Amino acid sequence: MTKPMAATNTSSIENKIVAVTGATGFIGSTLIRQLTQAGWQVRALYRPKAGSNPPVINNVTWIAGDLNNADALNALVADVNVVIHCAGAVRGVTRDDFDQINEAGALHVAQAAAAQPNPPRFLLISSLAARMPDLSHYAGSKWRGEAAIKSTAQPLRWTIFRPPAVYGPGDRELMPLFKSMSNGFAPLPAGANGRFSMIHVEDLVGAMVHWSLQDKGYGETFELDDGHIAGYNWNSVLDIAGRVLCNGGSIRRIPIPITLLKLVAWTNFTAAKLLGYSPMLTPGKIREITHSDWLCDNNDITRITGWQPTCELAQGLAGLFDKHH
Ligand SMILES: NC(=O)c1ccc[n+]([C@@H]2O[C@H](COP(=O)([O-])OP(=O)(O)OC[C@H]3O[C@@H](n4cnc5c(N)ncnc54)[C@H](OP(=O)(O)O)[C@@H]3O)[C@@H](O)[C@H]2O)c1
Repeated sequence: MTKPMAATNTSSIENKIVAVTGATGFIGSTLIRQLTQAGWQVRALYRPKAGSNPPVINNVTWIAGDLNNADALNALVADVNVVIHCAGAVRGVTRDDFDQINEAGALHVAQAAAAQPNPPRFLLISSLAARMPDLSHYAGSKWRGEAAIKSTAQPLRWTIFRPPAVYGPGDRELMPLFKSMSNGFAPLPAGANGRFSMIHVEDLVGAMVHWSLQDKGYGETFELDDGHIAGYNWNSVLDIAGRVLCNGGSIRRIPIPITLLKLVAWTNFTAAKLLGYSPMLTPGKIREITHSDWLCDNNDITRITGWQPTCELAQGLAGLFDKHH
């Protein structure tokens, strides 16, 4: 796959440091790779886990701690040029599960950055879901996270990205569905005919790196996608996936009745509350999945920063199960 081009000469950022949160996640791990390739020194936050260490990567320094640890956050952002806040909770049960991380966590990182003698530029990875804060606890928490970074006492030079559905190697949310598509069938909510945008993780991260190398876009909330005009619905995704993942064969759509999904979601919700785990399918997630319009475009981000996507869905899907990726 074509790798996004760095926007400026890498020598201009020699010895410059970017602080990253969420670097152990799906999007963040791609981000730190692309940032180092672009010439950045990376300082990355990680939550220590028994028996595992973060990967050793050239030009990446790991700082142990979480979004509630003021000392760790101060060490993370001290003297950096740019902060990219990519940590977030994508699964949870209660409003508090999401707000603790997506709202309070974002505020803590923004406050640490704003308190620097020379405050760094700040990029928040929000979500297109923040458009509809009443739809789910996740959506609301991403919207409140955006409000939080705008509210720091010392003004920050912030930019917000609102990605739509992100896919690519390492993703855990859409991958099971693409896997069943590659086996010729796709369980999907019955009557889910809304339109939605998508973006490959390399393209989203390419836009983040492109932003990091510029001095533009402050005070802007950018939506961004793969550039496919009018996005997709599930039938158009199945057409493309059939060509790419099933050698031109068709993929059988298996409609899952919404009432059944709701039943599973409520069972998950109740069991998760009792047992303390974070399920993917919750009542809020069903409202997100069945929402009719998750379309966005690149008009603003391209006009202001010059970034453009490079990976179409067919190309992105073709690389999904590539073991050499
Ligand atoms: N994936 C998508 O389709 C999509 C779409 C739109 C927006 N986004 C946003 O993009 C961001 C990254 O998503 P992702 O898909 O890469 O999620 P992910 O794979 O679940 O990664 C989440 C990252 O956040 C870290 N994190 C979570 N809670 C933390 C805490 N309390 N303190 C420190 N770090 C914490 C995780 O650390 P651990 O490894 O320690 O758990 C991990 O590095 C999120 O803000 C999400 O809302 C994602």
